[in-house]
Amino acid sequence: MSAADLQARLDAIVDRMRAAEDWGAVADYIPELARVPLRQFAIAVAPAEGGVAAAGDADVPFSIQSVSKIFALAIALGRAGDQLWNRVGREPSGSAFNSIVQLEHEQGRPRNPFINAGAIVTTDEILKGRAPRDALAEILGFVRAAAEDDDIYINDRVAQSENHHGHRNYALAHFLRAFDNLANAPELVLGTYFHQCAIEMTTRQLALAGRFLVGAPGLPRLVSTARIRRLNALMLTCGQYDGSGEFAFRVGLPAKSGVGGGILAIVPGRASVAVFSPGLDGYGNSLLGTVAMEQLARQMDWSVF
Ligand code: DON
Repeated sequence: MSAADLQARLDAIVDRMRAAEDWGAVADYIPELARVPLRQFAIAVAPAEGGVAAAGDADVPFSIQSVSKIFALAIALGRAGDQLWNRVGREPSGSAFNSIVQLEHEQGRPRNPFINAGAIVTTDEILKGRAPRDALAEILGFVRAAAEDDDIYINDRVAQSENHHGHRNYALAHFLRAFDNLANAPELVLGTYFHQCAIEMTTRQLALAGRFLVGAPGLPRLVSTARIRRLNALMLTCGQYDGSGEFAFRVGLPAKSGVGGGILAIVPGRASVAVFSPGLDGYGNSLLGTVAMEQLARQMDWSVF
């Protein structure tokens, strides 16, 4: 497909989304995110051949939140290798992203690295043996290298806002520590985790940052081919929490969502796709972002199935 045809499709999706009646609801449990204007929508595609096509509010920075968990997982696997799987599983949870119930029955080993409990363990692994500042420098450095763009920063206000209200995450971290599955003090791990989640990117930057997961020649190569496959497998099965089955059914692509309203999806060998719309559905995934991904995947005949 020509660049002009792709651009026309993205523009048409933006027009349809902007006419939507239901925009979902912004996350309100992090006060700084509750202030984000609801009616925003953006989509961007970075094809394997190069370049990026974007439409809508694609240059508005937003809080990537849980989309950061994919970058953190890639780094933690680079540091710990398969040892990481002793601490965190690889199964969908079927529970909300911030649920605590399974931890008690499953001896403090979170189901997967994308639910909050699993992501806290992943960040703890990155933090091992060094200060939060250094761990965050590595995470931010990885994201910038993936996007090939140094103009990406952490929003400290968002991190502080979550820290003041993150009681569930504190509960998860202390619970993990009680099961001996947290090497560092909960305050240090969560300070790092909240800042990692508070990375801000535009939709265009996020699509570019996802290229390392596409697995095609000429794209930023930050992890091995075998690891690319496994990261994509986890995104497909766990990337949208208890909405992962529904997302696979409707969109058919590995993806990772965040409560800031971003979703990063991968078309293996073909493209990296990012959407942003801060209104969420009941699972905490972008409502219009999911609709847009569904429309684009169908139009482009993109699916892993
Ligand atoms: O830990 C939290 O609750 C947030 N920092 C991130 C959660 C999130 O993005 C879940 N995604 N849908």
